[in-house]
Amino acid sequence: MMNIRSAPAVRYEMVDGTALIAIDNPPVNASSHDVRTALLEAVRQAEADEAVDAIAIFGAGRTFIAGADIREFGKPPKDPILPDVNNAIEACAKPVIAILHGTALGGGFEVALAAHARIALPGTQVGLPEVTLGVLPGAGGTQRAPRLIGIAKALEIITEGRRIGAEEALEMGLIDRIAEGEPRDVALEMAEEVRQGNLGTRRTGELQVSPDDAAIADVSERLKAKQAHLFSPHKAVEAVAGCTGPLAEGLAQERALFRQCIESPQRAGLIHAFFAERAVAKIPEAGATPRPVAGAGVIGGGTMGSGIATAMLLAGLNVTLVERDEEALARGRASVEGNLAQAVKRGKLDEAKRAAILAERLKATTDLGALAEADLIVEAVFEDLEVKTELFARLDAIAREGAVLATNTSYLDVDRIAAATSRPQDVVGLHFFSPAHVMKLIEVVVGDKTAAEVVATGFALAKRLRKIAVRAGVCDGFIGNRILAHYRKSVDYLMMDGATPQQIDPALTGFGFAMGPFAVSDLAGLDIGWATRKRHAAMRPAEERYIPIADRICEEGWFGRKTGKGFYVYPQGGKPEPNPEVARIIDEERAKAGILPRNFEDDEIVDRYMTAMIAEAARVLEDGIAQRPIDIDAVFLFGYGFPRFRGGPLHYADTLGAKELVARIERYAEEDAHYWQVPPLLARMAREGTRFADMNEG
Ligand code: 3HC
Ligand code: NAI
Repeated sequence: MMNIRSAPAVRYEMVDGTALIAIDNPPVNASSHDVRTALLEAVRQAEADEAVDAIAIFGAGRTFIAGADIREFGKPPKDPILPDVNNAIEACAKPVIAILHGTALGGGFEVALAAHARIALPGTQVGLPEVTLGVLPGAGGTQRAPRLIGIAKALEIITEGRRIGAEEALEMGLIDRIAEGEPRDVALEMAEEVRQGNLGTRRTGELQVSPDDAAIADVSERLKAKQAHLFSPHKAVEAVAGCTGPLAEGLAQERALFRQCIESPQRAGLIHAFFAERAVAKIPEAGATPRPVAGAGVIGGGTMGSGIATAMLLAGLNVTLVERDEEALARGRASVEGNLAQAVKRGKLDEAKRAAILAERLKATTDLGALAEADLIVEAVFEDLEVKTELFARLDAIAREGAVLATNTSYLDVDRIAAATSRPQDVVGLHFFSPAHVMKLIEVVVGDKTAAEVVATGFALAKRLRKIAVRAGVCDGFIGNRILAHYRKSVDYLMMDGATPQQIDPALTGFGFAMGPFAVSDLAGLDIGWATRKRHAAMRPAEERYIPIADRICEEGWFGRKTGKGFYVYPQGGKPEPNPEVARIIDEERAKAGILPRNFEDDEIVDRYMTAMIAEAARVLEDGIAQRPIDIDAVFLFGYGFPRFRGGPLHYADTLGAKELVARIERYAEEDAHYWQVPPLLARMAREGTRFADMNEG
């Protein structure tokens, strides 16, 4: 090493005429201010050094530059900004090559696009995923990518934000070559190739690009239809559309549009979601060693058990599925088989692996004793405390010492289930979401006595299943379902007081939810909520307002999609229509209660729904059921279809402020003081002017 730069984030070395510039900013070599400063200096030094005739930029450690440092977003930009660094790289009078490995994404890939040739190691992934974070490629990507691969392809990769493997990138023309070796060795080798004239170099910005109005119109239409809510993909298209003029003008427009995205609340929401996905792993038990899990048991092969078994099989575990009789077992096995066949259809699994899973790794039996050797057992039988405690008592006699005993209960008391065994330290809730082989979330419900390594095992399992685990405490419904049970009532009140399901659903999808609450109820089956309401009837406080509309619908035998009728009617192959009978039932119930329906604007519907959600979330936090606000955000983002660009309910709450939320609750409480109560935490936050985000940082 001849020359070590003072800035530690970039190392500079000169070997036989090649300036080697290694980006060294763990963990992902993000192009932070330090990196930008040192990279620019290094390029300038190499350009000025007469002994240098080729320059190679590569990443130290596990990756090339994985993108801009997104922690800097929202703060005032500090010079040199990345577009200027990239312009300097492109303008360099000496050939600059970029050697890519790991993930060269976003601003990282834009550095590569500004270089005069791009070489990737096998396994590299490149891409411009900025729209997934609410921004657009803002360091030349919208101008240089189309110059390399044409407008249509560039629009595709920029608006989808997907990662592209080295082979595909080579085929597209995004990179020039794939070469094997260590990045530094490849850098030296490729510099020599340039010298020998075997590897061509050119400035991307000087390439011609043909206009393609049809592609621009096409993608704009597609975005309007599919991503109307999102801001940055539309802006990205606008930026790409400007690429046919002079480069400097296109870059200036890109910069202006990038700044608009940076200032947008969607950028803050999407980046919060990115960090939420990672923050949830920070739990008090993180230091504990997970117990090894190779063979798992699943008890109950219904909706959830079959999905859980599928997820485990897809992740490489051996699974023993236990049902109570042969008929139920055949149904359970068939639904696992169906799920695996679907996975083949979607290209997630090949036929040979599917056959091998069924032949070698799935065992289905009615004998609970078959779980004697299982390392982890997930119970997914009926939601009935007696059934579950009885089962856990039997499991206690069967399971090997140290096996993790998990329940998938949606609401029940994990401590009482644990108490049915002689080993409550091994019992934990693993609350999957339906369909369990698709939904990302698992709530890891930690009981009074659950051992730290059992919690860690739950988190390790989630990781293996490529799911996101969130730590939750024991209460009725844990984090998600407890909050849901509360805010779901708000739309029944709205329906009773004057709004219709067909107004409420679009108001909430307009806010960004994937589905409206009535469409969700129809999908889940109205009978499920009905059964729960009947079970809870005796415990319902006298002051609670009760809306019997859904019960009346169930009494007609309409359970939603599965019966072809619910809040909506589902004609065979046709579009769902509002069920006219529901309008009649609503009218009758209003008349009985003496309610004169009033008009609700869509905004008020959203405000009441969101305020109810945030209020219960604040109580969940205060009760210690969730560790931090960001855990609640993750639960809703990954388990309940909460619009990602809004960051989660408590991130959204911060955009409103506690004062506004308290004022709303006090206003609504004039109609119903039992339902609308100000949570003490929110009152305190309003007084002190604090935000939920402050609690994430603490
Ligand atoms: N900026 C700051 N921190 C980042 C980061 C980034 N761009 N990318 C990842 N990190 C952090 C993570 O938060 C995490 O921190 P933690 O350990 O404190 O939780 C750590 O780096 C490791 O990240 P992962 O746990 O995600 O590690 P993986 O190995 O699973 O994944 C990755 C690595 C594929 C690089 C993934 O982190 C990723 O997708 N990062 C984002 C990449 C991206 O979208 N880049 C574009 C940014 S926008 C941009 O470049 C704008 C430009 O056009 C101007
Ligand atoms: P389900 O009714 O579809 O399946 C339950 C299965 O358990 C049935 O196939 C039944 O034959 C079997 N079973 C009952 N007792 C048994 C026993 N002693 N031994 C072996 N098998 C037995 O119910 P679902 O929806 O799968 O729910 C299961 C559990 O998962 C419940 O606790 C539920 O609250 C929870 N859950 C349900 C979700 C959903 O959306 N359906 C979501 C998350 C959790």
